[in-house]
Amino acid sequence: MKKIVALVGSNRKESYNKKLALYMQNRYQDKLDIEILPIDELPMYNQDDELDPPAIVNEIKGKVKESDGVLIVTPEYNHSIPAVLKNAIDWFSRVDRVMVNKPVMIAGGSGGVLGTVRAQMHLRQIMNSPGVSALTLPGNEVFIGAIQSKIDETGKLVDEATIQFIDSVVDNYIHWIEQTKGY
Ligand code: FNR
Repeated sequence: MKKIVALVGSNRKESYNKKLALYMQNRYQDKLDIEILPIDELPMYNQDDELDPPAIVNEIKGKVKESDGVLIVTPEYNHSIPAVLKNAIDWFSRVDRVMVNKPVMIAGGSGGVLGTVRAQMHLRQIMNSPGVSALTLPGNEVFIGAIQSKIDETGKLVDEATIQFIDSVVDNYIHWIEQTKGY
């Protein structure tokens, strides 16, 4: 069983992206052990503190370090990724650089038609920065437009085409984790 940590880019209670991450945690539980990390509890990154950070920083970084891969599910804020996600990545990119060579899968949904395209373009660039150096699953872009119409009131993804697409991307991601082992 592969241990995956999930980073959700929205800190609001009724977040569609959080619901999507929870849905994936449940749907793929036979293949992946997905733990959603509370990155919204991380303090604001400060370089003065990076060598001796608050305990929660080490706790969350440790979980990323020990994982087989990182799943990022994020909305788009002002054509980029939300600060809560960037803040977490900035902590992860320093000192022991816990995302180096981690296989990463990205998904995201928004209310508009583009479904986080611009945020994910930025995110892929960030994943390639020297401090991060993650191994992002190539291709396989999961953009979910009009996400409010695809998740029901119980938090379940109900759009069949989207479900099937994510199923296929998760299979590709599992293959990618195998392919990138030993990097
Ligand atoms: C947004 N939203 C948004 N949507 C989009 O497609 N492109 C964008 O650039 C933005 N920018 C943006 C900025 C801020 C500050 C907010 C609060 C919202 C709308 C966004 O996609 C929508 O609120 C989603 O529902 C947010 O995701 P969660 O919280 O439901 O996961």
